[in-house]
Amino acid sequence: MQAIPVSVETHLAGGLPSLSIVGMPETAVRESKDRVRAAILNSGFDFPARRITVNLAPADLPKHGGRFDLPIALGVLAASGQINPDCLSGIEFIGELALGGELRAVPGALPSAIAAQQLDHALVVPSANRQEAGLAEKCRIHAYASLLALCNDLISTEPLDCVTTTCAQLNSHESAVLDLADVRGQHQARRALEVVAAGAHNLLLVGPPGTGKSMLASRLPGILPPLSLEQALETASIASISRGGLDITKWRQRPYRAPHHTASGVALVGGGSQPKPGEVSLAHNGILFLDELPEFPRHVLDVLREPLENGEITISRAGNQADFPARIQMVAAMNPCLCGYYGDTREACRCAPEQIARYQSRISGPLLDRVDVQIAVQRVEYAQLRSDAAPGECSADVRERVMQANQIQQQRAGKSNAHLSAKEVEEFCELGEAQHEWIAQALDKLNLSARAIHRTLKVARTVADLAGATNIGEAHLREAMSYRSTLREQYRPR
Ligand SMILES: Nc1ncnc2c1ncn2[C@@H]1O[C@H](COP(=O)(O)OP(=O)(O)OP(=O)(O)O)[C@@H](O)[C@H]1O
Ligand SMILES: [Mg+2]
Ligand SMILES: [Zn+2]
Repeated sequence: MQAIPVSVETHLAGGLPSLSIVGMPETAVRESKDRVRAAILNSGFDFPARRITVNLAPADLPKHGGRFDLPIALGVLAASGQINPDCLSGIEFIGELALGGELRAVPGALPSAIAAQQLDHALVVPSANRQEAGLAEKCRIHAYASLLALCNDLISTEPLDCVTTTCAQLNSHESAVLDLADVRGQHQARRALEVVAAGAHNLLLVGPPGTGKSMLASRLPGILPPLSLEQALETASIASISRGGLDITKWRQRPYRAPHHTASGVALVGGGSQPKPGEVSLAHNGILFLDELPEFPRHVLDVLREPLENGEITISRAGNQADFPARIQMVAAMNPCLCGYYGDTREACRCAPEQIARYQSRISGPLLDRVDVQIAVQRVEYAQLRSDAAPGECSADVRERVMQANQIQQQRAGKSNAHLSAKEVEEFCELGEAQHEWIAQALDKLNLSARAIHRTLKVARTVADLAGATNIGEAHLREAMSYRSTLREQYRPR
């Protein structure tokens, strides 16, 4: 996530013509010498017939990828007197070279631009990275299509042309999102969706097949408050260094990642010999939707415990360790049992109590403890599904209330309720004596952990915010507590 400045030093000496690169280059960087040689020749420059040593400093940092091609080529040109070294000062360069001298896009252009801006340097990027780098609005970005075009500008006395992509220009790409109006009935589930949207809480939808769980979850993005600029840049930086790269048209939208349960552990949580972010990090500041939750491998679900608690994920692989941000809102859906119909109003469940218990235990207690809002999604009656029945409330109206409640939270604590620390919970979720007593009673029934109590208080705070109430009342507590009892009470195998 952090782009570390690397100095490229070039030395020409007598001896047999050769080019060696030192400073922990990995394969792609070692191969750079062949691309650089061809690109320099094909751009009409001379490739010096000397013994060339290129040093990438700091020496103990492994260097990956093709991004060093351009600075290495410029180093060779400067060392052999074909361009003036002075014109390179105050500018950072990244870019991969094609054999013909064209510049190819590299991953990580946005983090590089942010780092260059912190150094108060300009940044030269390949044309294909122009928009992405331009998201770092305060950085001076220059984009070029080829080594030759860049060198022509460096040699001329004119200052380089600056790219002026502003974030605002790229803002307008709100894609059409699914609307809540399509969901009929399901008043409780819709309410739960509104609560989690307002406070960034985690959500679990439990119910028989075909009741609209996946449908509801996919409509959550449409009612969430917008990303702040800072959050959008963080999320875009992660996408920028990921395998898939950044989709520039979506950078202002909250991420919504819905990995399939057959996806590999590395794809989900991140990893690899050169650690890359996984789905959990790509969902940073947004939603990670896990449909058919019990089908996910146990070890993957258990890794989620860390990011759900502290908003970060640590990936350790043989000698390499990386921390990626992963402040996610987890939304999950599941059937209550293997056949799917336990607790259904019509269809009888064919599972034995032990089978139901075994199925539900695929989701560990610690994970369930982190899910603040658990809601049963029951069968809707046909009268509500008929095409002439009234449609549900539309997303725009719900979003209005969500944004209002979230604004209260931002003003109070500078963050959504779900992200309040234990100390902040004490400060902002103050209760009266009657409420303390009420909680004590409810606890006897549900046996909640200390974490669950704190989390329930945060949900109650959100419910109160939605109601515009300054203090948490008993009704708010009752609603928050009810979201804890779905699997513990309603769907308990018996
Ligand atoms: N409440 C509803 N209002 C309108 N349509 C619905 C509703 N519930 C289900 N449907 C219809 O049924 C389809 C299936 O719903 P969905 O995929 O959300 O079910 P599910 O609860 O996720 O089931 P499963 O447990 O099998 O995954 C929807 O695409 C929609 O056409
Ligand atoms: Mg489904
Ligand atoms: Zn069953």
